[in-house]
Amino acid sequence: MEALKRLEYRGYDSWGVAFGEGPNLVKKSGRISGVSFADGEVAPAFAGLGHTRWATHGGVTDANAHPHLDCTGKIAVVHNGIIENWEELRRGLEERGHTFRSETDTEVVSHLVEEGMEGVADLAGFVEVVRRVFNQLEGLNAIVVYSPQIRAIIGFRNGSPMVVGVGPLDSRSGSPREYFLASDIPAFLPYTDRVIFLNDGEGAILSEGELKLIDAATGQEKLPQIEKIEWAAEEAELGEHPHYLIKEISEQPQVLARLAEYPEKDLKEVISLIKKSFGTYFTACGTAAHSGLAATYLFADLAHRHVNFAVGSEFYFLESFLTPKSLLICASQSGETMDTMEAARAAKKHHAKIVALTNVRGSSLTRLADDTLLLNCGPEKAVLATKSYTAKLALFLMLAAGIGGKLEEGRQGVAKAARGVKEILDDKNVAKIRELAKRLKDVDHLYAIGRGVNYPTALEAALKIKEVSYIHAEGFAGGELKHGVIALIEEGTPCLIFAARDKTESSILSNAKELKSRGGFIIGVSPEDNEVFDIWLKVPDVGPASPIVNVVPAQLLAYYLAVERGLDPDKPRNLAKSVTVK
Ligand code: G6P
Repeated sequence: MEALKRLEYRGYDSWGVAFGEGPNLVKKSGRISGVSFADGEVAPAFAGLGHTRWATHGGVTDANAHPHLDCTGKIAVVHNGIIENWEELRRGLEERGHTFRSETDTEVVSHLVEEGMEGVADLAGFVEVVRRVFNQLEGLNAIVVYSPQIRAIIGFRNGSPMVVGVGPLDSRSGSPREYFLASDIPAFLPYTDRVIFLNDGEGAILSEGELKLIDAATGQEKLPQIEKIEWAAEEAELGEHPHYLIKEISEQPQVLARLAEYPEKDLKEVISLIKKSFGTYFTACGTAAHSGLAATYLFADLAHRHVNFAVGSEFYFLESFLTPKSLLICASQSGETMDTMEAARAAKKHHAKIVALTNVRGSSLTRLADDTLLLNCGPEKAVLATKSYTAKLALFLMLAAGIGGKLEEGRQGVAKAARGVKEILDDKNVAKIRELAKRLKDVDHLYAIGRGVNYPTALEAALKIKEVSYIHAEGFAGGELKHGVIALIEEGTPCLIFAARDKTESSILSNAKELKSRGGFIIGVSPEDNEVFDIWLKVPDVGPASPIVNVVPAQLLAYYLAVERGLDPDKPRNLAKSVTVK
C-alpha cells in the first residue's frame, strides 16, 4: 500500500490491489493517499499486486480500476500501456463465453491467461501461458499477472517501464527475503536499493524465494544483473515540506551547484558527438520540450551552431531527414515518455546517434541511447517538472559553451545561477510572490512574454501556472503580441514579462509598455526595476544563464496560486508525471 502511494504520481484517478489467497480484491475510484492497512480492507499477505491508474480505455470507475480478474476470479492482472488489438481479442473471448466486467483493454489479458491455464497447475506452465499471452498483445505494454494458486507473480515489458527490486538477504538462507516488481524505483526504495532493470522483451518471474528473468520471445532464462541505486530513500520523502512541488523548487540551488561540477569527461564525450554530427536535433515533451527550445537559442548564442528542435509527438513527421550522421538529443526527466521514446526509436531505425539527458539511470531512454548525461537531481515526484527543467537548462548551457570552447565559463554561469536561485528563494522574496498569488488567485487569464532564450521561459511559466492552478495562461514571444494576442488584453489582465539584461531587453520592455497602455497589469521578472512594472520580481543578472533564474519566480507563483485556490499542487487534475502512452 505504501509502495503504491509512492507511485501515485504516475496516475491517481483510481487504485486497486489484489492480495493473498483468492485473491482478495479491493479497487476504487479516487486517490489511494488517504487509505491504510488500519482501515481493515487490505490485509497483510504473502504476495500482492497493486496499481494506480491514469485512464486511457474506459472512464474513471471502480470497475475500470486495476487489477482485473478473469471469469474464475483466480487470475489478477495490472497493465501499463495500450493494447492496440484489444477489440479483436475481446470479441474472440466474448464469443468463447467470457464475461467482461470492465471497459478496459487490460481485461483481455486476464481472460486470455484464464484460457491458457486450463489444465495447468505448475509454475513452468503458468510462465509459458503468460509469455504466450504477452506475445499476442500489439502495441507498447507492460503487464503483471498474479496467481495465488501458483504462488507467483509474472511481469513482461515492451515499451513500458518495469524494474525488479531485490530485497535484503535473509541471514540464515543467504538469499533475498522478498522481491518487488514496479514501474519505478521509488515504489520500493525504502525496502531495497538493489534493482534489476528489465529490457524490452524481457519478463520477471517472482515465486517463493526465487527470481528468474526470461526472454519473452524464446522463453529462455537470462542472467539477472543487479545494480545498486544511489538515491537515498529520504530524498523521495517530503521531509519538512508541505508538498513535493515546493520541496523540489527549493532543491534547485543544490542541484545546480552539483551540475556546475559535472565530470568533464562526460560533457566532452557529448560535445564531441555534437561536433561530429551532421545535423543535431533536440526532442522532448512538456516542460522538457521548453528546455529543448531554449537549447536552440543557447547553441546559437554560445556555440554559433544551428540545432533543430521538435516536440516528441511531432518528431515522427520529420524523421525522414535523419541519416546515420544525424544526432538526436532526447531530454526526458523520466526517460520513459512514450513520444520521446518513439522519436528515439525512429532515430535508431535510421542508424542516427542518440544522446539522452535524463534523471533516471537505467530508464528505457538510457538503454536506447549511445550516450547519457544524468541530471542527478534526485527523484522528482511532483507532476510539475521544476528542478529537472533547470537541470536540463544547466546541461544545455554547459554543452553549448563547451562547443564554443568556453566550458569553464559555462560552468561558472551555472554556479552563478545556483547562487541566483538561492537568492530568489529567500523568505522575503517568497513572501512577496505569495502576496502576488493572493492578489491574482481569482483572475481568468494570464499572459507571459519573453524573447530570445527567455521565450521558452514564457512558455514554461504559462505551462506551470495553467497546469496547477487551472487559470488560463499562455506564453508568447514578445514580438508576436501585435499579431493577435494584444486583442485579449483588458483592464487588469496580468502579464508576466521576462526582461533579461541581454539583447532582448529594450524590445521586451517596449512590449510591456504596449501591454500596459491597453490596461495590462505588468509583473516584471528582471534584474532591474522599470517604470513600466506594476510589480517587480527581482532576479539576479546571471548573463546567459538567465532562463534558469527567470523561471523560478514563475514556479513559485504557480505553486502559491494552487495553494491559494485550495488545490493540490502535487496532483493536478487529469495529469500524470510519466506519460507512457501516445
Ligand atoms: C508530463 C509531466 C511533465 C513533463 C512531461 C515530460 O507531461 O506532467 O511535467 O514535463 O511529461 O516528461 P519527461 O519525463 O519526458 O521529462
